[in-house]
Amino acid sequence: MHLPKRNGRSRTWARTLSILAAAIGTTSVLSGPVRAQVTFASAGNVAEVTYAKDVASIVQNNCLVCHRPGGIGPMDLATYEDARRYARRIREQVANRLMPPYYYDNDIGIQDLEHDWRLSQEDIDKVVAWVDQGAPLGNPADMPPPPDLSDTDEWVFAPEFGQPDVIVRSSPIDVPANGLDMWHRPIVPVGITTDRCIRAIQVKPAGDAKGVVHHANSTFQRQLDDGGFEGTGDRASEYAMGKLGELIPDGVCRVAPANSYIAWDIHLFPGGLGAAAANAVLPGNVVEMGLWLHPENYEYKYKQDLASYDIDEGELVMKPHGTAMSQGFQVFDHPVRIDSFQPHGHLRLRSASLEILYPETNRIEVISMISNWSAIWHQSHIYAADAAPLLPAGAVLIMKQWYDNSANNPNVADPEMWVDAGSRTADEMDHAWIAVTHLDEEGYQELLEQRRANQERRITDQ
Ligand code: HEC
Repeated sequence: MHLPKRNGRSRTWARTLSILAAAIGTTSVLSGPVRAQVTFASAGNVAEVTYAKDVASIVQNNCLVCHRPGGIGPMDLATYEDARRYARRIREQVANRLMPPYYYDNDIGIQDLEHDWRLSQEDIDKVVAWVDQGAPLGNPADMPPPPDLSDTDEWVFAPEFGQPDVIVRSSPIDVPANGLDMWHRPIVPVGITTDRCIRAIQVKPAGDAKGVVHHANSTFQRQLDDGGFEGTGDRASEYAMGKLGELIPDGVCRVAPANSYIAWDIHLFPGGLGAAAANAVLPGNVVEMGLWLHPENYEYKYKQDLASYDIDEGELVMKPHGTAMSQGFQVFDHPVRIDSFQPHGHLRLRSASLEILYPETNRIEVISMISNWSAIWHQSHIYAADAAPLLPAGAVLIMKQWYDNSANNPNVADPEMWVDAGSRTADEMDHAWIAVTHLDEEGYQELLEQRRANQERRITDQ
């Protein structure tokens, strides 16, 4: 079995960048013609990179949400002095595309994503050049205004949509400093009296609970006459550490049913991870769900849902120092659009991909690849409306995951252990969360036609 190389590409990039940067920084020792070439090629853009002019805005927009007092990052990057102090480590993390923590291969599959946190190559180059030039402040007058860091618990979609229309909170639970994994499964009312369509959804542990919540699943339930509950069949959302949220495309409906309840399934671990919780007792942990809703009577043609697709149904096993690869298949009997993709595994999962097999041509298309997956960060990769894959009825979704139980995997504390499928953090899982719009033939043809028209317009515009 071949395990995709961890960071193979980004390391090469980092090396190329550092060679480039070194060349630029040391032009005086280069011989004549090469020197002239380097100076010519780099004139203008790499000239002088300063914190105030170039780097502060990158840090403010991409790092401070976590690296600020009370944030989940291990250190603050709020001031120039902070950033200069950690300059080498920032360079290392940024050049290798490890920070911001949004892992998604940039050289294969669909690249047009919503809420994509990857830095542009231009920003990466700026950060690297800034560090290589000695991390200068530059002219303080060039500094962007300092961001407001008072709200450490902001909703990700607040800048776009304002505060959520509805916030559903789990009941609180105390988490001790030591012990085994815990599960918390309260059922709480949503507080809406008509069926509504969801526009965006974010589930987040409130405050310090971020450090102890591993994941939180939520399903809509209705109350029965005898006081019990049953699922409506609609899954609300899935939260796992580091996740930002989900955005539902316009024109489709992910239903929040009238008079429904949320059944939480929250997985916590004592002692926590991250700055907020390491080895601490944390009382009163609450997970909250923000729902941004479309207006009542929102017009839509198709329903969209989020579901977990099994990969090999609990068969996963790894021997000590072993690796494993699993794959699962899903076929729909009607055309669909794939709106988002999020692999799920635990500490041994290193890579994941999503592919489509088109049976008419036997062509396989790689939609998404995450070579450097990390259990700390679970992102739902949301395809931009015009890029979301359209599948004819009968096409096959292929989900693949690669696991490493050896000492090469820094998340493996004890490679002597056998690893089995299961729900504890120390066990493994293999499934993928996929949001799907369920189309009919007419809707499928319409979307194809729209894509063609948009593409032609883009070509004519060029
Ligand atoms: C979503 C939250 C989040 C964002 C955004 C984020 N970080 Fe981090 N960062 C973390 C956490 C948590 C860790 C520690 C765990 C880890 O290394 O994955 C970390 C680790 C680091 C480290 C390594 C510290 C060490 O131990 O050497 C550096 C450097 C860093 N981040 C820099 C950045 C920079 C620069 C940005 C923006 C370009 C950024 N981070 C964006 C949360 C974040």
